[in-house]
Amino acid sequence: RRMATMESLIGLVNRIQRACTVLGDHGGEGSLWEALPSVAVVGGQSSGKSSVLESVVGRDFLPRGSGIVTRRPLVLQLHKTDAGTEYAEFLHAPRKKFTDFVVNLTLIDLPGLTKVAVEDQPESIVQDIENMVQSYVEKPNCIILAISPANQDIATSDAIKLGREVDPAGERTFGVLTKLDLMDKGTNALDVLEGRSYRLQHPWVGIVNRSQADINKNVDMIAARRKEQEYFATSPDYGHLAHKMGSEYLAKLLSQHLESVIRARIPSIIALINKTISELDAELDRLGRPIGVDSGAQLYTILEMCRAFDRIFKEHLD
Ligand code: GDP
Ligand code: MG
Ligand code: NA
Repeated sequence: RRMATMESLIGLVNRIQRACTVLGDHGGEGSLWEALPSVAVVGGQSSGKSSVLESVVGRDFLPRGSGIVTRRPLVLQLHKTDAGTEYAEFLHAPRKKFTDFVVNLTLIDLPGLTKVAVEDQPESIVQDIENMVQSYVEKPNCIILAISPANQDIATSDAIKLGREVDPAGERTFGVLTKLDLMDKGTNALDVLEGRSYRLQHPWVGIVNRSQADINKNVDMIAARRKEQEYFATSPDYGHLAHKMGSEYLAKLLSQHLESVIRARIPSIIALINKTISELDAELDRLGRPIGVDSGAQLYTILEMCRAFDRIFKEHLD
């Protein structure tokens, strides 16, 4: 069976979300929309969360840098419209749209976990952030990119600690090790990357993001990815792992995982649609056919849409 592309898969997610909205399912507790996968990055401050999220998407769009702290979750939805225009939408700033994306999916850039309150922050800030991050990652549909910097001891990783709490089996946690280029000379991260330090269900992926100097020099994504690939290909420590390292490989792992999660959901989505179709049919019979211009016509449109979705889902099951 051929693999669905990230694009077709994400197109499907968006159709499902739109169908759910039309069906009056607005993403509350227990809704199908809520059950669709999202991807969140978690980790300590400046561990490279925003950088990783951008690399996975392959575009620059997030506030990022050493002095920049994400204070509240940035929820992004990357869409592909029927006309082919793609844009991302921050749910907290819905009018601000970003064009030219490759994938569309809900991505969440979470505030960094902190150890101490600074400046005028209340003492409760450390716990508040942790609770808020937890409320996102504890949802079973949330795929966690657990970001740990390679220049800190993995045993102190907040991301891994949180991942272990909410996903003890490690089924939806991807361990991402950033800043490999910043490790002390003479040390390497093979114990982590080869799963000896902390074993996860999914393989660890090592990443080299743009440094602050690169950001200051406006090094673009393509150049950054090329440099990252070169780093692994020529590294005496990681050369043998080069094909399983880097942002592009992480994006590939992630889309494979997304595909399997979405496929597993399709039967229940079809069941919902079939149920809705029968309800709509009954309603249409009650109103009498053919349908007038107002409420009946709307129901008819929805019914047609449901049938179209049903066909699409069946095609995806083949
Ligand atoms: P966040 O606070 O966790 O979202 O982290 P950012 O993505 O904003 O990155 C924080 C700082 O670390 C920035 O200056 C980045 O350039 C730098 N940085 C992130 N990842 C790497 C990396 O892999 N290598 C290097 N050299 N710098 C990195
Ligand atoms: Mg950030
Ligand atoms: Na930052």
